[in-house]
Amino acid sequence: MSSDSSIKIESVLQEQRIFTPSKEIADSSRIGSFDEYQQMVDAAKTDPEGFWGNAARKELHWFQPFQKVLDWSNPPFARWFDGGKTNISFNCLDRHLGSSKADKNALIWEGEPGDVRTFTYRELHQEVCRAANALKTLGVEKGDLVALYMPMIPEAAIAMLACARIGAPHSVVFGGFSAEALRDRLIDGEAKVVITADGGFRKDKVVPLKPAVDAALADGACSTVKSVLVVKRTNQTVEFEEGRDNWWHELVSIQEADCPAESMDSEDRLFVLYTSGSTGKPKGVVHTTAGYNLWAHLTFKWIFDIKEDDVYWCTADVGWITGHSYIVYGPLSNGATTVMYEGAPRPSNPGAFWELIQKHRITIFYTAPTAIRAFMKSGRSIPDQYDMNSLRLLGTVGEPINPEAWIWYRDVIGGSRCPVVDTWWQTETGGVMISPLPGATPTKPGSATFPLPGIEADVVDMNGESVQTDEGGYLVVKNPWPGMMRTVHGNPQRFRDSYWEYLRPLDGSYIYFAGDGARRDSDGYFWIMGRVDDVINVSGHRLGSMEIESALVSHPAVSEAAVVGRPDDLKGEAIVAFVTLETGRVVNEQLIKDLRSHVGLEIGPIAKPDEIKCSDALPKTRSGKIMRRILRALAAGEEVSGDTSTLEDRSVLDKLRE
Ligand code: PRX
Repeated sequence: MSSDSSIKIESVLQEQRIFTPSKEIADSSRIGSFDEYQQMVDAAKTDPEGFWGNAARKELHWFQPFQKVLDWSNPPFARWFDGGKTNISFNCLDRHLGSSKADKNALIWEGEPGDVRTFTYRELHQEVCRAANALKTLGVEKGDLVALYMPMIPEAAIAMLACARIGAPHSVVFGGFSAEALRDRLIDGEAKVVITADGGFRKDKVVPLKPAVDAALADGACSTVKSVLVVKRTNQTVEFEEGRDNWWHELVSIQEADCPAESMDSEDRLFVLYTSGSTGKPKGVVHTTAGYNLWAHLTFKWIFDIKEDDVYWCTADVGWITGHSYIVYGPLSNGATTVMYEGAPRPSNPGAFWELIQKHRITIFYTAPTAIRAFMKSGRSIPDQYDMNSLRLLGTVGEPINPEAWIWYRDVIGGSRCPVVDTWWQTETGGVMISPLPGATPTKPGSATFPLPGIEADVVDMNGESVQTDEGGYLVVKNPWPGMMRTVHGNPQRFRDSYWEYLRPLDGSYIYFAGDGARRDSDGYFWIMGRVDDVINVSGHRLGSMEIESALVSHPAVSEAAVVGRPDDLKGEAIVAFVTLETGRVVNEQLIKDLRSHVGLEIGPIAKPDEIKCSDALPKTRSGKIMRRILRALAAGEEVSGDTSTLEDRSVLDKLRE
C-alpha cells in the first residue's frame, strides 16, 4: 500500500460510445447474447460448486475424478477439485491426439531473423516427451522446481509442458531480467535445474542469456541448482561448466518420444511466477494444477470464442503470466493454433506485427495498450500496407487502455468489424477476470466491462463497503475462483496480508484486494484506473517502487531513494526516482548515467528510471515514511494537494518544488 495511505482515486471521463455485437458475430458465438451471459452469471452465483464442478468435469480430462469442488474452510487458502488427478500437459497435448487435431498446427513460431518452425499437436507431444525424459535424466523428480530463463523460442513452451508433464513445477524468469534478479528467484524458489539458451534475438540485437545464468550461479550462490540445460539459438560462444551444463540439442534429441504424463493431484503446484508487490522483494505467486488449468482453458474459450480454424496470436512474453495462460496453456488446452513471435516491431521493420498477421492469416490478436499507442503514433500508413482481413477479434491486456487507442485499434487494425475485448486480470488471478464476451457484451471504449461468470467483482472503500455509482474505490473480488493464486511461495502470511486481509468487511468475510483502483458507471461497467499501491506499470510491465529504490541505494553514491510513477502518453507510466546522495558526492551527467545502468544490472533494463532527480532531502512523515503521494504530484508537474501537515519538514517540499 502507499506509504502515506491517503489514496486519491480520480474520476475519469464519461465515455458515451457503445459498440453492440453485430448479429452475425452474436449468431456465430458460443455465448451469443447478454441474456445468455447473465444466465451463466446467475447459475454460477446460485450454485458455484455445481457450476465449477460441471465445468471441470466437462472441460478437463481426469485420471481420477475429484470428490469435492471447493474447500474454503480455511480462508484465504482454497482447495479446488480435491481428490482429483489430472495433468495439464496431458490436457494440452495427449487428449487431442485421438482426434483430427493430432495433425493440426499447435504452435507456429516465427523467429526474429525470419526463421519459422511449426509443430502439429503430434509433433509437439513428441518434443515435450523428449524434453521431459531429458529432465528426468538430469535427476528432476516430481515436486522439484525447474527455472526457465529463455528467449521466445518453441523450447520455452516445450520446457514448460515438459515440466508439467513430470510434475516438476516451473518458474519462468523473464529473459529481460538481470543476473541479480535471476539469482534472487533461483534462491527463493530453490530451483534444481535451469533451462536457458545461449542467447536470443531482440530488435535486431543478440541478447546473451547463458552468461547471466553463469553469473547468477557464480560462487555457489544457488546451491540447489545441479544442472543447466542450454538451447543453442544464437551460436554465440558460451562457457560450459563440466558436469553442470548440457546442450539441449544433444540431450533432448536422444530421448524416447514417449513419456507418460504424471498423475497429479489437483492441488499439486504447477508453477511459481514472481511478480512485484508494494513492499519487499518480488513475490513467488503459486498456481496449482487443476484450478489453473480450468481457468486458463475456460477463460480462453469464452473470451476468444475459439473456433477450430482460428489462428491465434498473443504478443506477450512467456516470462509473464499472459504468456503462461494465453500463449501456452489456454490455447493448447483448447486444441487451438497458437502463434509465438520471438521479436518485436523495430525501426528496421515497423510493420512486423502486421506482416505476421498477413502471413499467417491470424484471426485473433491479443496485445498490450502500450504497443497500440506506439503504432498509433507512427500512423496508419504502416498497418494500411498489409492485408489483415483474416482478423475477426482483437484483445488488449496489461494496462488501462485510453478510449482513443481503443477506437484506433478497432478501426485501423480491426477494420471496424472486429470486437475489442479489454481484459483485466493479474498474475495472481491466473486468468482473465473482467472482460467483454465478443458475442454478448456491448463494449464501451476504455472499459473492461463486466466480470466473467462466477466472479463477484466490486468496487469498495477502506471498510470493504461498496461505493456509489461513479465513485472511485478499490477493486475487489468477493469469492474464491478456481484460477486464484494459492499462496506466496514460502510466505503464506504475505499472501494473507497483501491480498485477503488488507480490506476486512465488518461481517468478517474474506475479499480479495487486487491493488487496483476502479469505478463502476451507472450501467454497471467497470473502469479500471490503475494501481493504488506502490506498483508501477511501465508498458504493461509490473515493477515495485521499493525494488527500484533498493537497487538505487545499493549504489555507493546514493543515500536514500524514492521511486514513483509519472503518467506517460506512450508507456502508461514512466519511472521517476528522487535520490539523496552521500556526503561529498556531486550530481553530474555521468553519475545519473551510472545510476541508471546500476538499476539495469540489479533488476533489468525495463526498470531503469526515465528520470532521476537529486535533492538534499525527501519528504517524510514524522514517523519517517517517505510521502510518495507528494513525489507523485511533483513528478507529474501537478500541484501538491491534500494534507501535507504530517510532513516532518515543510521546507523540503519548497526545495523540491524549486
Ligand atoms: O494494474 C492492473 C494492470 O496490470 C496489473 C497486473 O499486472 P500483471 O500481474 O503483471 O499481469 C499483467 C497481465 C494480466 C493489474 O493489477 N492491468 C492488467 N490488465 C488491465 C490492467 N489495467 C487496466 N486494464 C486492464 N485490462
